[in-house]
Amino acid sequence: MGAKEWTPESWTQKPAEQLPEYDDHMKLQETLDFLQKMPPLVFAGESRHLKDKLADAAEGNAFVLQGGDCAESFAEFHPQNIRDTFRVLLQMSVILTFAARMPVVKMGRMAGQFAKPRSDNTETQNGLTLPSYRGDIVNGLDFDEKTRLPDPARIMQAYNQSTATLNLLRSFSRGGYADLHRVKQWILDFAKGSPEGERYMTVAREIEHALSFLSAIGIDLDSSNIVRETEFFTSHEALLLPYEQALTRTDSTTGDWYAVSAHFLWIGDRTRQPGGAHVEFLRGVNNPIGIKCGPSLDPDELLTLLDTLNPENEAGRITLISRFGQGTVEKYLPKLIRKTLQEGRKVTWLCDPMHGNTEKSATGYKTRRFDNMLGEIREFFAVHRAEGSHPGGIHLEMTGRDVTECTGGADDITEEDLSLRYHTHCDPRLNARQAIELAFQVAEEIRAAHDTAEKTAGKTAEESA
Ligand code: PEP
Ligand code: CO
Repeated sequence: MGAKEWTPESWTQKPAEQLPEYDDHMKLQETLDFLQKMPPLVFAGESRHLKDKLADAAEGNAFVLQGGDCAESFAEFHPQNIRDTFRVLLQMSVILTFAARMPVVKMGRMAGQFAKPRSDNTETQNGLTLPSYRGDIVNGLDFDEKTRLPDPARIMQAYNQSTATLNLLRSFSRGGYADLHRVKQWILDFAKGSPEGERYMTVAREIEHALSFLSAIGIDLDSSNIVRETEFFTSHEALLLPYEQALTRTDSTTGDWYAVSAHFLWIGDRTRQPGGAHVEFLRGVNNPIGIKCGPSLDPDELLTLLDTLNPENEAGRITLISRFGQGTVEKYLPKLIRKTLQEGRKVTWLCDPMHGNTEKSATGYKTRRFDNMLGEIREFFAVHRAEGSHPGGIHLEMTGRDVTECTGGADDITEEDLSLRYHTHCDPRLNARQAIELAFQVAEEIRAAHDTAEKTAGKTAEESA
């Protein structure tokens, strides 16, 4: 299976999990032909730039913050929602930068995160069996026959929504909204006056003081892009392969293939079979890519995946996103880290504390406990410290909205509260306050990791003196 044999459609020759069955093949083909003529959402040069940043994170010289909806939806599409999620990511990034004293790479699960893998192909309610909901790009959430039928028209709607979302994100990133001088204004109304809101304002004031100091000594901050603008990347799970194929193009400057639906694409825990269609598709595009690593991934299989997806061992190409569940990181993560270290493989490690910690509440909601998510992150940091590798970042399902989907956190959402504002189309997300609180806790972990590293460096210097 040499790299040369790859084409954007070579995945169709491999077994594919989790793809919908469309009834209307002609309409599907027309849609994909049309999509193939549409403009790219991102440019190859941007993806290459992101790859460099991820390579920095692999070396412990940057920290990655990847976050957004579990599933974007047509119903929740609103400029205010995009702005609020973006602004919580900005706040978290400031908190983390401050603690980490290194750049934070910001990546949204936004502008394309529509397709969902499901445990069952069908769902039965009151004796009626229908296809499972697979994300708004495939079918609708409402439980009726017509809505659950995969509809190719949804593909174009998802593309258009992604385009509009990315357009707004680009404006926010470059047009002044993300200017560090506005750091205090990013706080959301409902977080004002809360303990984590106050904590955020303390960091914001320190940043303002630092900026005033730099101005006072004559540094012209008004014309500095570093202060006035931010870099923001997009990402989603590369699940719906016909869509991804239609948005795969050759880069005019290098002649290489790139997926142009987002800067970064990942393979889900359910579609990472080494001989499967999703791995085949991603092996041929030059974007930085992620692999979700769940409990069933063994070290040799990981090595096979790395051989297939990154034969040149290029830095920044592979991000491994571990998602084991609180209490089990120690069991699964060390053997994977050891394998990559033994084999000299360059990988960036992120922790997804969401997907191993999903449970059903007594009140019947799919939920996650704040303390379990925090627990998994702490175990992730501890294991990396013990193994001598770098905890490169976190991967979260979160929103800027004031939802009640995960329990716990500063305002202690209870199982009874879940029904108040439970809006997700798929998995439960951290709300804005929970996300910011989590960022402060992660900041403490990063600080502790720094202190350990400094102490070790100090000791080594003493010993060699
Ligand atoms: C997801 O990230 O939404 C997801 C389905 O994750 P995983 O593949 O890790 O289960
Ligand atoms: Co999810």
